[in-house]
Amino acid sequence: MSITDRCNFRCTYCMPRKVFKAGFPFLPRSELLTFEEIERVVRAAAALGVQKVRLTGGEPLLRREVERLVAALSAVPGIEVALTTNGALLATKAQALKAARLDRVTVSLDSLDDAVFKGMNDVGVSVSRVLAGIAAAQEAGLTPIKINAVVKRGVNEASVLPLARHFRGTRHVIRFIEFMDVDNTNGWRMDDVVTADELLTQIATEFPLEAIPAAYPGEVASRYRYKDGGGEVGVIASVTRPFCGSCTRARLSADGKLHTCLFASTGHDLRRLLRSGCSSQELKESLAGVWQARDDRYSELRTAGIATSPRVEMSYIGG
Ligand code: 5AD
Ligand code: SF4
Repeated sequence: MSITDRCNFRCTYCMPRKVFKAGFPFLPRSELLTFEEIERVVRAAAALGVQKVRLTGGEPLLRREVERLVAALSAVPGIEVALTTNGALLATKAQALKAARLDRVTVSLDSLDDAVFKGMNDVGVSVSRVLAGIAAAQEAGLTPIKINAVVKRGVNEASVLPLARHFRGTRHVIRFIEFMDVDNTNGWRMDDVVTADELLTQIATEFPLEAIPAAYPGEVASRYRYKDGGGEVGVIASVTRPFCGSCTRARLSADGKLHTCLFASTGHDLRRLLRSGCSSQELKESLAGVWQARDDRYSELRTAGIATSPRVEMSYIGG
């Protein structure tokens, strides 16, 4: 669930500054789902068997009183609440998030090299600020933490090994993500993708690896274990190893559109339904109907070279 389309970073692969500049038409507050509306959707989803909610953005920690939402959602029986953040505000929010019973946090960090990282986030946030966020989350007991690193050829390939080294032997698991053609603004080209095979070969030159099974059905990362017992590392290979067939995710945009694929161009308008005074039963039927009708397999089509329609922005749909 994306809870805001705004972000305090301008990652070149996600919200390039030339597009997301002053005057960009971000959603007005009245168009965002309220916390109460989000909770209604989660309660209906939980009744249908959903077990996990991940809050994203944009940057979810920018949403005012996000901990109040976390508390409301973690109180829903059967629901585990996770959150993906760029980490810049995590040091100030970690304790409150833990107190609100957040189950898990994922922090995005694309490099340990300040020049490279600042070049990628494009707002001058330093590596140390994100590491401080990770440390605060650890101290608050939000462990183990997952770290996401998007790898783009010619930009941060040289950051892969230092990142792997840094998180080896900690309880945190780093996952390297193939650069995706998520939207229409990031200028994606296949040549820019550092493939999972290349990433794994690079890591294995220093630290031999072996594949391990998925932690749960539909897990998007392929998992590997360091043979010397240094823990685990993952790759998310949605370009070279599409996993559409086992995808179990539904996505809700900040303005309440339900998408059955990260790459879908249109969503089902749940906000209109919620604001029309629907019953819980109607909400459940609507969710179930959208889910049962899904036939998305964008990544498989793209990798097979089949043309598809325009896509929504990552900052709108949340990753
Ligand atoms: N390709 C791959 N990953 C991306 N993310 C954002 N944009 C892209 C992209 N084009 C990542 C972020 C964050 C997660 C939600 O998605 O870095 O870790
Ligand atoms: Fe913000 Fe995350 Fe997108 Fe970077 S990847 S611009 S931190 S939403």
